[in-house]
Amino acid sequence: MENNGCWVIVGGAFGDEGKGKIISYLALKKNPAIAVRGGVGPNAGHTIVYNGRTLKLRMLPCAVVNEKTQLFVGAGVLVDPEVFLKEIAETSSSARTKVDRNCAVIEKKHVEIDREGHLKEVIGTTGTGTGPANSDRILRIGKLAKDDDRLKSYIDNTSCRINSALDRKELVLVEGTQGSLLSLYHGDYPYVTSKDVSASGICSDIGVGPKRVKEVLVVFKSYTTRVGSGALEGELSPEETVKRGWQEYGSVTGRLRRAAPFNFKLAKESITLNSATQIALTKLDSLFPEASSVREFERLPEKAKNFVFEMEMELSTPVVYIGTGPDAEDIIERKVESRTW
Ligand code: IMP
Ligand code: MG
Repeated sequence: MENNGCWVIVGGAFGDEGKGKIISYLALKKNPAIAVRGGVGPNAGHTIVYNGRTLKLRMLPCAVVNEKTQLFVGAGVLVDPEVFLKEIAETSSSARTKVDRNCAVIEKKHVEIDREGHLKEVIGTTGTGTGPANSDRILRIGKLAKDDDRLKSYIDNTSCRINSALDRKELVLVEGTQGSLLSLYHGDYPYVTSKDVSASGICSDIGVGPKRVKEVLVVFKSYTTRVGSGALEGELSPEETVKRGWQEYGSVTGRLRRAAPFNFKLAKESITLNSATQIALTKLDSLFPEASSVREFERLPEKAKNFVFEMEMELSTPVVYIGTGPDAEDIIERKVESRTW
């Protein structure tokens, strides 16, 4: 696979698939000229390790880990200026970060509405103001980034920059947020987020047309988690979740995530919805402890290899990246030609 063109990375389930780790790996290994964040807004927290520090990015693209990469936030994304500026300061990335002029801005009132009544009690949102801000945007009474003084020095035209980079045959990483099964259109409404977050929605956010996309990389975790309300087939008790070592806490909300075994039926839906060309599978070491920190496919235990083969057969898509531990380098990268189905 050549390192050029538009690669879209999206979550295959309910968010928290480990996209941050996969994107940081790609950013360091493939040297993208540009990385752009699509998706809803600061309701997503992507965990990365940067200069020895663990950061939970809610606004910036995870490709910030590569200092040569230019960073953008797409027009469809909601910007919380405080979170945006804080992350720029934390990563010293002021000189290479831009936000689209047409991003809508999250205001205090949006956060307040998101933290009470229906949204809090029934949906179990992240309480970051994204749903109410999208609602104002649709009513066409929202405030835009270009009209916010705090963002003045960061305003740009994201779609224009990305399409020019693609004209120059550069590599553009497009970072999706949440997971496809939380899509407003394709998920189990009303237990969904406030936008479409499938690959098509993410491309719309950043202003790139469907014919320009080269790779769609869908990220799955080796087991399923979900925060907030909505169905989760095969949901384990909190005790069983801890026993299996699958306990996780929300990076934005701190809530214990609900957990269940990997669901091939949902994964198949997600592959179709996104027109996936590749799969990244994270946390294989959580299913098979002997896989921990293994960096060559051949060295994986048989059981772990068979799980990967089964996934490729069931989903007819190559598993190209496999996460085997928390370290940024704990990743197996396979040749696409090594497909098994
Ligand atoms: P909202 O996006 O904050 O409105 O929340 C709607 C639903 O999506 C809730 O169930 C949230 O827990 C879930 N959600 C939103 N963003 C994420 C994410 O990045 N990871 C996991 N769940 C999310
Ligand atoms: Mg997350």
